[in-house]
Amino acid sequence: MDNPNKPILLIVDDNPTNIKVLFNFLKESGFKVLVAKDGESALSKLQEISPDLVLLDVMMPGIDGFETCRRMKEDPKLKEIPVIFMTALSDTVDKVKGLSLGAVDYITKPFQQEEVLARINLHLKLRSLTLDLAQKNEKLENFNHELERQVEERTAELKRTQSQLVLGEKMSALGQLVAGVAHEINNPVNFIYGNLRYASEYTHGLLELVQKYQEKDPDPGEEIEELIEEIDLEFVNEDLPRLLNSMQIGAERIREIVLSLRNFSRVDEAEFKEADLHAGIDSTLMILHSKTKAKGDDPGIEIIRDYGKLPLVKCYPGQLNQVFMNLLVNAIDALEENRKSERKIEIITQKREKDIEIRITDNAGGIPPEVQDKLFNPFFTTKPVGKGTGLGLAIVHSIIVEKHGGTIECQSQVNDGTAFILRLPVDN
Ligand SMILES: Nc1ncnc2c1ncn2[C@@H]1O[C@H](COP(=O)(O)OP(=O)(O)OP(=O)(O)O)[C@@H](O)[C@H]1O
Ligand SMILES: [Mg+2]
Repeated sequence: MDNPNKPILLIVDDNPTNIKVLFNFLKESGFKVLVAKDGESALSKLQEISPDLVLLDVMMPGIDGFETCRRMKEDPKLKEIPVIFMTALSDTVDKVKGLSLGAVDYITKPFQQEEVLARINLHLKLRSLTLDLAQKNEKLENFNHELERQVEERTAELKRTQSQLVLGEKMSALGQLVAGVAHEINNPVNFIYGNLRYASEYTHGLLELVQKYQEKDPDPGEEIEELIEEIDLEFVNEDLPRLLNSMQIGAERIREIVLSLRNFSRVDEAEFKEADLHAGIDSTLMILHSKTKAKGDDPGIEIIRDYGKLPLVKCYPGQLNQVFMNLLVNAIDALEENRKSERKIEIITQKREKDIEIRITDNAGGIPPEVQDKLFNPFFTTKPVGKGTGLGLAIVHSIIVEKHGGTIECQSQVNDGTAFILRLPVDN
């Protein structure tokens, strides 16, 4: 029975008698034996078969054993095959030359069969151990690579989680502060706001009364006339209602801001609940008003709202406000940097079949493609040190994708502008 796992030996020798002796003896010892009659044909045979060991005669016509060995060692495919020289010479110089060329051993003619067999077996064993070791090494290396990769991945993940925690904590601390301040301001503003109406009514009444008196008694005497002059009654008559009116507008505005702050911080709304997204966007815009409004000869940033009809959306409202804030601040920052004449931010909302789409577009000049790939990486920022942390979009991504199962996409055109498109799933 032919064992397919028999070790394969290649004998390279020009002497037929030698070949015959070796061939028969090795075959009987359980090897598969192949033969080549000179160096050239050995080398070409080696291109097709890959023996486990080569027995190489030194003295041959054409290229000799040394040269054959040298060429084998130059060929990456062949250089690992162990070579044993066969030499009739007991000359040490030859043996050393063979070994220095990369042969693993030598045997001398005439052969001692047991010795030949012992040497062949030893080198086959060594060879298989070496191969084994190389394989294990490779596995170990792969394992190491995998381990390194995993460590890197985990570290990045940890860093991300950590930064989110830190930012999350900062945001919630800020939220609590804002909510606290808003709450404190709320009451006094309500006194003012609530009483202004009466103040205005009473004032009207009093002014009317004074006017009636003046009609009834056009000549009230010196003392009263002096007083009328002193307080400039005519001006007060005109200005007091106007003044009350602007106080009313101011108080209303404070109330709106307080409402927005409370809406934005929403410490009371950490849970998942139905919310009006437009209210969230509007309060965020209100908070950012000082950054977008016209100042002096700066016309400011035009905000275009194109709101569709949206249902209430189940979400974490406070977190979505953070998202709007980060995206809007980024757009404003980009517009500040790229001072062109007509700066605008457009916010389009739309209910679609299975989701709600919110598109925030600016005309700030866009993001270069090489930057676009990194936008959502934590700590990626192109802003000067101290200005940006590079966490804004990473947080946005995590809130939209992980917390709300939505998607975020950035479409940007250099020299034109950038759009961030949020999609939040809704089930109706
Ligand atoms: N609308 C935009 N136009 C141009 N570049 C933008 C825009 N939005 C984001 N970027 C770019 O993406 C980078 C990352 O944004 P991200 O919000 O994550 O961090 P940041 O704004 O630099 O810092 P942080 O938000 O933490 O203060 C920005 O530095 C900027 O280069
Ligand atoms: Mg940002």
